[in-house]
Amino acid sequence: MANQPNTQTLLLLPGDGIGPEVTAEARRVAETIAPDLLIEEALFGGVSYDAHGEPLTAEVMDRAKQVDAILMGAVGGPKWDNVPRAKRPEAALLGMRKGLDVYANLRPAFCFPALASSSALKQHLVEGLDILIVRELTSGVYFGEPKEITTLKNGERRGVDTASYTSGEVRRVAARAFEMARGRKGKGGRFGGVLSCEKSNVMESGVLWREEVTKLHKEQYSDVQLDHMLADAAAMHLVRAPKDINVLLADNLFGDILSDEAAMLTGSIGMLPSAGLGDPGVPGLYEPVHGSAPDIAGKGLANPCAAILSLEMALRWSLGRTEAADRLFAAVDAALNVGARTADLGGNLSTRQMGDAILKQL
Ligand code: NAD
Ligand code: IPM
Ligand code: MN
Repeated sequence: MANQPNTQTLLLLPGDGIGPEVTAEARRVAETIAPDLLIEEALFGGVSYDAHGEPLTAEVMDRAKQVDAILMGAVGGPKWDNVPRAKRPEAALLGMRKGLDVYANLRPAFCFPALASSSALKQHLVEGLDILIVRELTSGVYFGEPKEITTLKNGERRGVDTASYTSGEVRRVAARAFEMARGRKGKGGRFGGVLSCEKSNVMESGVLWREEVTKLHKEQYSDVQLDHMLADAAAMHLVRAPKDINVLLADNLFGDILSDEAAMLTGSIGMLPSAGLGDPGVPGLYEPVHGSAPDIAGKGLANPCAAILSLEMALRWSLGRTEAADRLFAAVDAALNVGARTADLGGNLSTRQMGDAILKQL
């Protein structure tokens, strides 16, 4: 992390589908709120595969390690469905996360007051909702070996993924969750500290997860409330009484699923940003939680808020620009308050018009 604002660089990776549409709005916002920020763009995902035969080139990976923060749009789409796994757009994303070692993925599920009635849940359940999901991002079943499809002697095929965690991998992401909970005192209800989710009832990696989180808590974070819940029960609790939860800690796969679920509490998946963070000095990887939305790509319908709020997180967590981040957050809130809505939120603004509405509030 560079501390001199005038030398900071943001690497923009628009990607595929609605990625370029939503990052274009984030870029306009960045140019307004942080005019001295250098913005570089590079091909990433399907568009990179089309141009170079690789979804993530060594050049882009190297550049990502040198900048202050990376803002990614989205990758993937039906066009690349039959490309071999290692060359698929999603492989670029996993490669970038692993290459940067951004193991802690912060996914805030915050319900803006103006959107409390847009949620799939009853208004009183989500009004004032402010959950932080901390998802492990660089290990677990996404990366465990073996990972393969083999043909058995009897001619049947067998697909294998391996859910594995080391104690160090669990401890470092849990530490981040405990630290975040310390900064978020007073949020949540029954589970006002860290709610750690796994399936220790059926998975060895889940047993290890629970034991390591418990140990670390005892050693260093006993001032923070710690609760454990099986991940399936957590999925249920998220729609029963979401405001009970403050920080929800989960592995890579459960965190992926629970964050899409939490998105719907906030009104739309088009609202959820994320920050992938590693150890100090590592550039953060900022990405909306949503995907490339092939069903609406190219139509100017996508909600740019998740991308713009991902920029907000970059300003806050990698660029040291807290004041700009606060202003941006307030501008999104204000735009929603005056009724600015894309289609996913029940409105009729285009992606560009939603960007305009936020820029107007800045
Ligand atoms: P998706 O998030 O792209 O879309 C799910 C639904 O949400 C769609 O109906 C879509 O129109 C809607 N939606 C998503 N973002 C929106 C936005 N900003 N505004 C309005 N509506 C929005 O998930 P999917 O359809 O399962 O996946 C499509 C492709 O995206 C796949 O190739 C998948 O692998 C990829 N994907 C990429 C990322 C990423 O790059 N971070 C994340 C998830 C999925
Ligand atoms: C996400 C996405 C990715 C994931 C895919 C596209 C690889 O769903 O960021 O939530 O599963 O991590
Ligand atoms: Mn996902």
